[in-house]
Amino acid sequence: MAPVLAFDVYGTLIDTHGVVAELETRLGAAGKADLAVEFSRRWRDKQLEYSFRRGLMGAYVPFSQCTEEALAFTDRALQTGLSESDRAHLMGVYGELPAFPEAAESLARLARAGVRCTAFSNGTREAVAALLDRAGLGEHLEAVVSVDEVKRFKPDPAVYAHLRHRLDVAPGDTWLISSNPFDVIGARHAGLHAVWVRRSPEAPFDPWGIEPDMTVPDLDALAERLS
Ligand code: LAC
Repeated sequence: MAPVLAFDVYGTLIDTHGVVAELETRLGAAGKADLAVEFSRRWRDKQLEYSFRRGLMGAYVPFSQCTEEALAFTDRALQTGLSESDRAHLMGVYGELPAFPEAAESLARLARAGVRCTAFSNGTREAVAALLDRAGLGEHLEAVVSVDEVKRFKPDPAVYAHLRHRLDVAPGDTWLISSNPFDVIGARHAGLHAVWVRRSPEAPFDPWGIEPDMTVPDLDALAERLS
């Protein structure tokens, strides 16, 4: 059976820090534009923390709610005084984040080589499909698999089992592609193969003794290896 690549979305295909420019504008009104990069990083970290905590609590909500609540928390933590309309606007920008520059061509190259590619995300199918279409990636992906279909978040083993079930492939033929170490470890733990997209040479990997099958600096390098 041919292998299938399941691409993580936020941070792997789509650049979550694409919101920095808008943050600079919104925070700039209060003279705090210099906090934009830190705000973006803390917002993302808190979004993931909320998904982990909700998973442990058995209190699932759509991922966009984790994102929205993490935005409000980060505003409180950094005392940046965002208005309700600032937050609504930033959530809108989050729904239209850009793809990483090499993503479209890499997916197209894999598709031309006959490699099956799908998206696999914490985001709901509707939100992720709209985001990917807007970013010009949807046409290269055969499906969007969402954790929302099982109401659990990554790295719950149930979501990786669901991915395999949806793709209808053996564990050994399912490859997660992710820049998020927790996602790579979750997939490996659940018996899948996983590639770590180490977008920054300084990015550390968790020292759990569970390693990716392959590490690449970006999606272009992945396409080069597999096509
Ligand atoms: C996702 C999160 C983990 O897209 O970034 O699933």
